[in-house]
Amino acid sequence: MLRATVLSSHLPLKRVPLGVLCVRGVATSSTGASRQRSTASEGRALGSNDGSPSLPTREPANEPAVSDKSQPSSAALSSQVSHEHEEHRVLGNRHTTSSVLTRESAVSTLPPKGDWVMFHPVYTPEELKSVEVLHQKADTPQDMIGYGLVKFFRWGYDLVTGYKHKPLPKDADKMTIQELRKAGYLLSDTDWLNRIVFLETIAGVPGMVAGALRHLKSIRLLKRDNGWIHTCLEEAENERMHLMTFMKLRQPGLFFRGVILGAQGVFYNLFFLMYLISPKSCHRFVGYLEEEAVFTYTHCIEELEAGRIPEWENKPAPEIAIDYWRLPADAKMIDVIYAVRSDETTHRFVNHSLANLDHHTDVNPFAMREPDMHVKGKKIAFERHEAEEYLLESQKLLCQKSLEEPNPK
Ligand SMILES: [Fe+2]
Ligand SMILES: [Fe+2]
Repeated sequence: MLRATVLSSHLPLKRVPLGVLCVRGVATSSTGASRQRSTASEGRALGSNDGSPSLPTREPANEPAVSDKSQPSSAALSSQVSHEHEEHRVLGNRHTTSSVLTRESAVSTLPPKGDWVMFHPVYTPEELKSVEVLHQKADTPQDMIGYGLVKFFRWGYDLVTGYKHKPLPKDADKMTIQELRKAGYLLSDTDWLNRIVFLETIAGVPGMVAGALRHLKSIRLLKRDNGWIHTCLEEAENERMHLMTFMKLRQPGLFFRGVILGAQGVFYNLFFLMYLISPKSCHRFVGYLEEEAVFTYTHCIEELEAGRIPEWENKPAPEIAIDYWRLPADAKMIDVIYAVRSDETTHRFVNHSLANLDHHTDVNPFAMREPDMHVKGKKIAFERHEAEEYLLESQKLLCQKSLEEPNPK
């Protein structure tokens, strides 16, 4: 994934929060961010489709003035990071054993340079193939309830939509695709689309609710947010892009649209209330929901690669998908499904990780950068101490990168 590929080896430029650490020595203002758009064409400048790392282009004229004299050495900045780390270890009151992760007053999510916009995921071929179907063990009663609810909803939805995942009969090779579909072993392309379109209309809700509620809390309590809001909003937009992509292949009728309307009304309000009560449980619930999405898209990929959805075998990827994921111009549906599955894997990882944090005080460790799919695809979540280590590493990378960048004229 572009952000992961770039940011794991370079400095996170697109999402550079926590400027509080570096801004003191590098930029004159944490709010003096330049505008850095991530339109389709500009997004390509962020990295190539083969995943070769390249850094975002900048608009020097809009960047905040930087003085050579004002720049401390890399060692000094690293030391500053460590000092802050230790300082908050002492001052932290909710979590006295951590500091970088926990801030009573929020830290900046604005970069010292550049502006962030909604993240455009771009994956390398290796990342797309590195996703595994994983499960977060439900250890607490809340987790068990969340997991139980997801399983219950899945069971009900599978029943209503006729989703099948039963093994093929022994004589499957003697049956045609149509016969297997008629016998209930396979879904047709239309069945797949119905299922996916409905689920994506639901999947776009939690991120928006969480982002909106955290936004409202921030402006209500006059406090900054610790960097959670835009990750939540990115998730919502990403899910909506899934929907927009699949809508290019299937236009629901009136009845279907009515069902979507009702489902959104119910789910939005329930999730809204639940998020007011327990954000942690909601992120865990979404993590479990995304586990199911990864499972379903993995099944879809297997079916497609086995030639059991022949309608999609040579079907070109919709233009919107090529644009959004920076797919090759001749990309096919299989490339789209792989990209969507990787997105769902990110949501799985991010939400389970956020559920392991304290939503009152902890910084979003993914506000600056995210691990690439080689991590997210094989690891269900960061535990809290891992999130803290990751955040500290991000801050150090940020400081180093700020020193390496040429000064704007
Ligand atoms: Fe999705
Ligand atoms: Fe999802």
